[in-house]
Amino acid sequence: MSASTWSLQPDDRQRLVKGAFAAKEFAYCRYSNFRVGAALLTTTGQVITGANIENASYGGTICAERTALVKAVSEGIRSFTALAVVTDVASAISPCGMCRQVIREFCALSMPILLVPADYEKRLAGGEPDGGIKETSIGELLPDSFGPEDLELPRDG
Ligand code: THU
Repeated sequence: MSASTWSLQPDDRQRLVKGAFAAKEFAYCRYSNFRVGAALLTTTGQVITGANIENASYGGTICAERTALVKAVSEGIRSFTALAVVTDVASAISPCGMCRQVIREFCALSMPILLVPADYEKRLAGGEPDGGIKETSIGELLPDSFGPEDLELPRDG
């Protein structure tokens, strides 16, 4: 992971992680029973959260990351400084492929993405300074990606 865990102010980081944990409580995941919470930090310091919302027609499921992004963008907010994602798994779980592409649309390639283990608090209490958070970015998670700028390129033919 190239981005630093400390690229966020400690209080922003704490608010963001707290937001992701809180969002997870609202996961609607009666089919997978796999709760996911996401939280976006906006450039104005707001935290916008999302949870996964499943559907009896499974393909209708919306992941936590996309819930948060769609909530924000639909309210006119498109500038983000960080994203945190948490599940009930005691290791850092990474966004799915479809979410990576949606994150790519709205977030800078180097924007910190914090993958938070479910036992974050326990790890912090146990002296792990970053609570086991893995920090990454969409540039790392989705290399050589296709994005909005590509549609602006001159076309030959
Ligand atoms: N899920 C997310 O919310 N985010 C991801 O990046 C991976 C998967 C959800 C979708 C579904 O409700 C459950 O986790 C199991 O796939």
